[in-house]
Amino acid sequence: MRLPGLADPHVHLREPGSEEKEDFYTGTCAALAGGFTALLDMPNNPTPTVSAEALAEKKRLAAAKIVCDVGFNFGATPTNAPVYPAVIPEVAALKAYLGETHGPIVFGSLEGMLSVFQGWNSPKPIMIHAEGPIVAATIGLAALYDRRIHICHLSKADELTLVRAAKERGLKVTCEVAPHHLFLTREDAAPERLGPYGRMSPALQTGRDIDELWQGLADGAVDMIATDHAPHTRAEKESSKPPFGVPGLETAFPLLYREVYRGKAGLTLDRLVELMAIAPRRVFGLPQGDSEIEIDDTEFIISSENLHTKCGWTPFEGQTGRGRVRRVWLRGQLVFEDGRVLASPGSGRVLFSA
Ligand code: NCD
Ligand code: ZN
Repeated sequence: MRLPGLADPHVHLREPGSEEKEDFYTGTCAALAGGFTALLDMPNNPTPTVSAEALAEKKRLAAAKIVCDVGFNFGATPTNAPVYPAVIPEVAALKAYLGETHGPIVFGSLEGMLSVFQGWNSPKPIMIHAEGPIVAATIGLAALYDRRIHICHLSKADELTLVRAAKERGLKVTCEVAPHHLFLTREDAAPERLGPYGRMSPALQTGRDIDELWQGLADGAVDMIATDHAPHTRAEKESSKPPFGVPGLETAFPLLYREVYRGKAGLTLDRLVELMAIAPRRVFGLPQGDSEIEIDDTEFIISSENLHTKCGWTPFEGQTGRGRVRRVWLRGQLVFEDGRVLASPGSGRVLFSA
């Protein structure tokens, strides 16, 4: 079976600064193995992508190493709005961490949030990391300032209720759901199960939340799947302070396609292609129709031994997947076949570059 190349707007490729977890080459190899031909990289590196210089450095490093197409999301801080006009043409979106516990690029004040919504004078989306009541606040700001917002890794039923209401009002609000929030529950994060390997932000939720998310995938309230691929080393995960985040590029399609095949929530293959290929490209302005993947329509057991991500583990170890990616073509070129990356480092395109 052939499908369009998948696209993921929410990936942490970790370079520069955290190459022990992932780098531009290993992360984009994992993307091809998972059927993704275009990614958007997130700004929360040790030196965050919150200046024109940091963005230029990322692009320079990526250009030499990537094997699929990569665009960048710029990071908002409470004070960096003056650089937006210069970077808007160079990025896919703005990423604003409007929650807690996210290091140097966190917002504690209304003043900072206002500067983001007033300053981002562009039809490109503001990607929001927010949970609970802050989701409501950002939808209010999007309405007041007529901005396009995209809620990242939406995980709770009540947040989806807000998105549905915003869409009914005609507001420019989209949202993504991550596979771990569809397939794992709070119970999976127990110490005797995944323990630190089930620790991510937002946290795993309840069965009720999961049912609502599946409903939203099928009926259109959820716009797209995004992996929030956030690799960390096993040593970090097993430390006394395990960081938040799980890898996801290589397991997303096989888990979701398995459920399409089983008829879950009425989700069709056409809808899955919309969620994983068409919608992310449309919402983030990525090239449409330039790539193709071939799927082997059989079941297999997900195993960390077959992964390309540098972190070398998955929270879905031992789960059944369906639809292993056999071949990937990027602009007509065969770049991946039967577990092997054929593309040479640097053959992917840096998107949004003049
Ligand atoms: C993210 C990461 O590791 O970069 N982790 C995650 O669980 N989503 C950062 C973050 O959003 O906390
Ligand atoms: Zn993330």
